[in-house]
Amino acid sequence: MTRLLTICFAATLAAGCSRDAAPPADGSAGAPAATDQAEMTTAAEHDEYSYAEPDKVRTEDLALQLDVDFDNRQLTGTATYTLDWLDEDATQLVLDTRDLSIEKVVGERSDGRWEDLEYELADADENLGSKLTIEAPQRSSRIRVTYATSPDASGLQWLTPAMTEGGETPFMFSQSQQIHARSWVPVQDTTRVRFTYTANVTAPDDVMVLMSADNDPDAARDGTYSFEMPQPIPSYLLAIAAGDLVFEPISERAGVWAEPAAVEAAVAEFADTEKMIQVTEELYGPYRWGRYDLLILPPSFPYGGMENPRLSFITPTVIVGDQSLVALIAHELAHSWSGNLVTFSTSNDAWLNEGITSYVENRIVEELYGKARADMENVIGRNELAVEFEEIDPSLQRLALKPGTLDDPDGSSSATVYTKGAWFMQFLEQRFGRETFDAFLRGYFDHFAFQSIPTTKFIEYTKAHLLEPNPGIVSAAELEEWIYEPGIPDNAPQTDSPRFNAVDTARAAWLDDGTVPAQSLTSEWTTQEWVHFLEGMPETLSIEQLDALDDAYGFTGTPNGELAQRWYPLAVRSGYTQANDAIAEFLVDIGRRKLIMPTYAALVQTPEGLQLAEETFAEARPGYHPITTGSVEAVIAEAKQAPAQ
Ligand code: BES
Ligand code: ZN
Repeated sequence: MTRLLTICFAATLAAGCSRDAAPPADGSAGAPAATDQAEMTTAAEHDEYSYAEPDKVRTEDLALQLDVDFDNRQLTGTATYTLDWLDEDATQLVLDTRDLSIEKVVGERSDGRWEDLEYELADADENLGSKLTIEAPQRSSRIRVTYATSPDASGLQWLTPAMTEGGETPFMFSQSQQIHARSWVPVQDTTRVRFTYTANVTAPDDVMVLMSADNDPDAARDGTYSFEMPQPIPSYLLAIAAGDLVFEPISERAGVWAEPAAVEAAVAEFADTEKMIQVTEELYGPYRWGRYDLLILPPSFPYGGMENPRLSFITPTVIVGDQSLVALIAHELAHSWSGNLVTFSTSNDAWLNEGITSYVENRIVEELYGKARADMENVIGRNELAVEFEEIDPSLQRLALKPGTLDDPDGSSSATVYTKGAWFMQFLEQRFGRETFDAFLRGYFDHFAFQSIPTTKFIEYTKAHLLEPNPGIVSAAELEEWIYEPGIPDNAPQTDSPRFNAVDTARAAWLDDGTVPAQSLTSEWTTQEWVHFLEGMPETLSIEQLDALDDAYGFTGTPNGELAQRWYPLAVRSGYTQANDAIAEFLVDIGRRKLIMPTYAALVQTPEGLQLAEETFAEARPGYHPITTGSVEAVIAEAKQAPAQ
């Protein structure tokens, strides 16, 4: 089994992974669910997913010099660290690496000359990679590592020209979160360290290179590029992409980078990006990162989106023509406040990033598209959360995870972190009222700007700036219940969606007497209503029923991945084999984990399905990202271990 043991687990699969970040393979993980704040506080001092020793020495700036070598699927070059030696006894720099070859390490002496430094690359740990220990007896203020990445780097995907839209130019992109930056840069790979960075990158002449930095829309495409990120960021926000990429503006400060054939549709779909920035600024203060551009990746991108600063990476699967899935953009943009500005200090506190961001996302959606849409998105999330809670261990239902809960930090329970986190924020908003809560959150972003904090800091700040100045509204015990206890507190605000109630009525009528919902009704439905229509179906339907739905609405072969994510597992569970060709095509074309894993999971339940899953995976695999490959491998391996009945 590979290190990338991130799969949508067991029965969570029945309803699909709620978010692209999947729950862990080992749902039973460890610690009891009891509240234990003392333990949380001490543990917050240490990041269990990094070998770095940031209390001894910290990277202040990283200067990269890289060549993008498509023939060998490698990045090669140097990383130069400007260091702040905090501990006066420290003489070692410990970096995280994974599958890197280290060629040489040098340190700058006080006379300005560079000398060789001794170093040791430890054997690889399955989850954490290899610890690189550099001996720096002179406590050099600059150290430089010469290195090359592996063609199988977990944080990079290399696509041949045939795997791109245009078919002529190769493509590569990184995905560093959670701990994959170390597979393409030797780095203190912990959110406790923030650094500025610069990069000089060379690539074939016809390839455009972009990074999570200042991408100049007018930069000449000539094979040499330089970047600067003047604001300090944690390592998981290091990002690079290269391919046949062109730029189209949306506004003065926002725009789209995409392959030429994809750019126009993307600009139309994401036309509201500037408005989203403005809405968020009104709520939480200025956008502090300069430009906000979107990079549209190939369909193999394993996530929906990634909030790389100044340049969010976006799946093309949300470009469905009617802007119904643009909450993704609101989400990645919101991370410019919750996540990129105020960052969780370990992945056990992931809810601070994803939960608060999901809350802000929903506020942006409400502002731009109305409350009915925001409510529908809330209900979809909460239904997924309910399904997930039935399956996962209580220790994973806490917002703040106990250290030791996860082997792999990519494996935090997604619905808990995102939806329970957002729900907690909605609870506070409802109790204190929008005016008070908005001002509080804005103050929180300002107060902790450019810092990485543990959950305990959030609690401390919230008590001091929200609970205590507004006494008698929310007790400390209520606050702590949300954060440290499993499940959803009884006092959680409920959301009713009249538009979903209409969908429920239509579905019930169809199940009752076979009357398909009328065109006059469904012509008003957006992706959200269709998703709800399908999610409320029984576990299986008859072939006649599935045929009737296909005749009426053409689900099989749908270009909308959110519908495919729900329709194909239902088809598989129901033995609707006429969808098999379309299923195979979907699984080969799309690599976004959230969309395809539920179908794989449904397939592996029967011997025939497992065979189709394996055949399809064999065909799809060369086009999958390492993260997706790892997830699919794990599901197939597990099914084979416990043969289907
Ligand atoms: N930061 C996440 C993606 C991520 C999380 C990557 C954890 C690796 C580990 C990103 O902002 C995100 O949440 N993406 C979601 C978007 C959705 C919630 C709108 C996704 O990809 O599903
Ligand atoms: Zn996110």
